[in-house]
Amino acid sequence: MTAQPGQPAPQDDPERLAAFEERLARGDRVEAGEWMPAQYRFECLRLIQMHANSEIMGALPEREWIPRAPTLARKMQLVAKVQDEVGHGQLLYRVAEDLGKPRPQMIEDLLAGRSKFHNVFHYPAESWADVAIIQVFVDGAAMQTQGSLRSCSYAPYARVLKRICYEEDFHIRLGIDNFKALAEGTPRQRAMLQDALNRWWTPIMHFFGPHDTVSPHLETMMRWRIKVKTNDELRQQFLRQFVPLITEYGVRLPDPGLRWDESGQAYAYTEPDWEEFQRVIRGEGPRSEARLALRNEVWRRHRWVHEALERWPVAA
Ligand SMILES: [Fe+2]
Ligand SMILES: [Fe+2]
Repeated sequence: MTAQPGQPAPQDDPERLAAFEERLARGDRVEAGEWMPAQYRFECLRLIQMHANSEIMGALPEREWIPRAPTLARKMQLVAKVQDEVGHGQLLYRVAEDLGKPRPQMIEDLLAGRSKFHNVFHYPAESWADVAIIQVFVDGAAMQTQGSLRSCSYAPYARVLKRICYEEDFHIRLGIDNFKALAEGTPRQRAMLQDALNRWWTPIMHFFGPHDTVSPHLETMMRWRIKVKTNDELRQQFLRQFVPLITEYGVRLPDPGLRWDESGQAYAYTEPDWEEFQRVIRGEGPRSEARLALRNEVWRRHRWVHEALERWPVAA
């Protein structure tokens, strides 16, 4: 039975729970058909469903630029990347539905705005440079989280992440090539890149979530390896990987407070506006409504395909 938000989780058998914890402590992984605590099932489902939603909603900002890509080669690369993202969504919904929530219900919840997708996909992609920034920094941020979760305890998710990360790595390389072309381009191209980086910086810093507060919940998530690194660890890992790319190409750092702190062996930065983050993940971001409307419209337009597929076994 799956725990629902706002409802108390069904009580787990203490002996089974102890055996489960012992298994995880030994480094074992959990398969879909095996016994798991109700809260473990709930948290895995929540995480994987949000990831799946984010893949298919994340395809939308870049999709807007397919007809306007500057060259045929860039267009083909972008089409391939957007296809990859939608494919990630398909793989992830399959993994999520094994945890007990039917796929049509997940799609319905997304379309109705009842379930969440990542904050970064609630923002507009205003210029071609936004595509470069998304490919390097948004995919780069996602790679920190997804890369670390390859060692999570839920085996079907860990397996699918291996495949997804291969493709994400390619997206980042593609983005770096795009970023480099603009950074080494005309003054107008450089200005466009700078503007895009400035606008995207806050959502990217938000991506990893607020600072972790030590809580029994966080402790359980880490012990169960549903969370492998803290939000702050992931944010720092991201900064260590990508700040040098910005400075190497002479692009200005978007945050004047961003600097390497030798004594703390970490990046210091200006705290982003966390209220904005809360608004955005509630679905009140600058493009939340438009993106959901587009997703609904696409769903309506393609409904005949779903209906035809549903009838296929009967016809066969
Ligand atoms: Fe993806
Ligand atoms: Fe990607």
